[in-house]
Amino acid sequence: MLVSAAEMLKAAKAGKYAVGHFNINNLEWTKCILQVAEELHSPVILGVSEGAAKYMCGFNTVAAMTKEILKTLGTTVPVALHLDHGSYDGAYAAMKAGFSSVMFDGSHYSIEENVTRTKQIIADAKALGISVEAEVGAIGGEEDGVIGGGEVADPDECKRIADLGVDMLAAGIGNIHGKYPANWAGLRFDVLAKIQEKTGTMPLVLHGGTGIPADMIKKAISLGVSKINVNTECQLAFAAETRKYIEAGKDLEGKGFDPRKLLAPGCEGIKATVREKMELFGSVNKA
Ligand code: 13P
Repeated sequence: MLVSAAEMLKAAKAGKYAVGHFNINNLEWTKCILQVAEELHSPVILGVSEGAAKYMCGFNTVAAMTKEILKTLGTTVPVALHLDHGSYDGAYAAMKAGFSSVMFDGSHYSIEENVTRTKQIIADAKALGISVEAEVGAIGGEEDGVIGGGEVADPDECKRIADLGVDMLAAGIGNIHGKYPANWAGLRFDVLAKIQEKTGTMPLVLHGGTGIPADMIKKAISLGVSKINVNTECQLAFAAETRKYIEAGKDLEGKGFDPRKLLAPGCEGIKATVREKMELFGSVNKA
């Protein structure tokens, strides 16, 4: 059964660990992540971008597929199906389809518009028991002439959005989606500490989990991050293992071209990445 992410994140915040959010792209991805979560007794959040939902034939298909996989695998750990970086209309479509959690990313709107829309979504989601993640706008990606830093949020704006009653808050602290540039300035722990100070017990979300060094991840968790999003790293692991299989000519041996065999090494790559992240985030044996 799918659950809202609210309780698992409150527990993570209190226990000083983070729940992994792993993006899914197809049935194999979903199955692999759920198998590792069960094996490690870890709560997990399955992230679905609007693009990935479209690729998988829509929100209804994704929700139905995930629910059936949970039943078939006999999953017992808490699992949230979460819309990642949703638009306003996308958030409503995902809620209607049976997602148990949604992110409304109003960070590109003015703060006033972000507040108005986030407030409406919270009211409607709460009535359905669905958790909500909001995102606060950026105040520029360049600091002291250092290019290669990610966006940095304003702690006062974070408080305004947090006070609306969201269940989790994404705030830029120099993090970036995808691979980090060689000249990346690192996470802004000073800003994270200020955001935490202003938002109290609000679980904070760290996007762009790929490629952040382990010591920075641990420090971010110690300063209040309770959900960490990982996407690119699973994709890279999947691609690398698939490439090894093909370069070794395995697809040409026996029935190596069978899609179930062809996709298996990539799936093992995803599983290894998810295991490593759950251990690093401290969510193992927390379900
Ligand atoms: P990465 O692709 O950098 O891991 O970021 C994922 C993410 O933040 C999804 O919202």
